[in-house]
Amino acid sequence: MSITLLSSPLQGFTDFRFRNAFHEYFGGIDTFYAPYIRLNGKLVIKNNYQRDLNPENNTVPHLIPQVMTNDPDEFLFVIKYVESLGYTELNWNLGCPYPMVTKQGMGSGMICNPSKIDEVLHKAHNESNITISMKMRMGYDDPTEILNVFPILEKYPIKNVAIHARIGKQLYKGGTDLEAFQNCVNQSSHKLYYNGDITSVQAYRDLQERFPNIDHWMIGRGLIADPFLPQMIRDNTTEYPENRWQIFKAFHDTIYQQYDEALSGPMPIKMKMLGFWEYFSQSFNDSKKVYKMIKKNGSPRNYKATVNEIFAKQR
Ligand SMILES: Cc1cc2nc3c(=O)[nH]c(=O)nc-3n(C[C@H](O)[C@H](O)[C@H](O)COP(=O)(O)O)c2cc1C
Repeated sequence: MSITLLSSPLQGFTDFRFRNAFHEYFGGIDTFYAPYIRLNGKLVIKNNYQRDLNPENNTVPHLIPQVMTNDPDEFLFVIKYVESLGYTELNWNLGCPYPMVTKQGMGSGMICNPSKIDEVLHKAHNESNITISMKMRMGYDDPTEILNVFPILEKYPIKNVAIHARIGKQLYKGGTDLEAFQNCVNQSSHKLYYNGDITSVQAYRDLQERFPNIDHWMIGRGLIADPFLPQMIRDNTTEYPENRWQIFKAFHDTIYQQYDEALSGPMPIKMKMLGFWEYFSQSFNDSKKVYKMIKKNGSPRNYKATVNEIFAKQR
């Protein structure tokens, strides 16, 4: 069976610089999702979202923008904006688990409100021709919440529903609930994509065996922790390329340089790279030590020397 691998969006990580470099150095991903656009009560697209979606800044073959809102007018406004840039699909985030979002009835806090979902989709489909896809958790409090949303989705030509097999109140703790995901497979007439904890080739193989009819797989954190993972899944191999660390280092240096140019002052770049190393370090032998080495660095010169040392030890 031919499979499609998708890069699940991570706000603060998978922006255009990351996506472009990822595609150049590692490959393996068919489709990238941009992190969500969120409006703050005003119909204005912030500059950083504009930069992220600007086609001139993006060199990956297929990019899908995403929005997080519970407001039909905002949704339509973002549709018109992404259409003006040439995008033909908009993904709707009903997955974000953070209380400041869910308490406002957005992200996974909206899954328990099918009539509101209906309202948003109704306006979007009535007043535009864009393709809409969804990215959802299975609920906020309970993984059966999503089952009440499926009949609403059936009214619309939703392209697909990507499901992160957790509930909102878990945040990122605890395991995925594969039985509840199976219930979704049984009850949805839409095309479902699987998302959640694909962190190794073996984890992918186990999931594929359990869900033989799923052919679209979304990878989020696993792809930052081990950027070779998508291509290795595609090649059905657990062998890394011979020049694994050279490629990883070149990728690191590329994004470091770009973020260094884009961010001003030593602190923002330090925090940015530290965020990445929380994941990158998982690829290294002694991941806790590697993370600590990065964390205790002050100046950019020290940072570079530490990174060189970390990579040199892997060779
Ligand atoms: C820091 C962080 C930021 C995220 N930002 C987004 C986002 O902008 N849009 C979205 O749909 N999901 C977002 N997610 C969720 C991931 O895309 C993904 O659904 C989740 O991490 C589960 O998949 P994984 O186990 O492969 O990472 C984010 C997750 C994390 C940890």
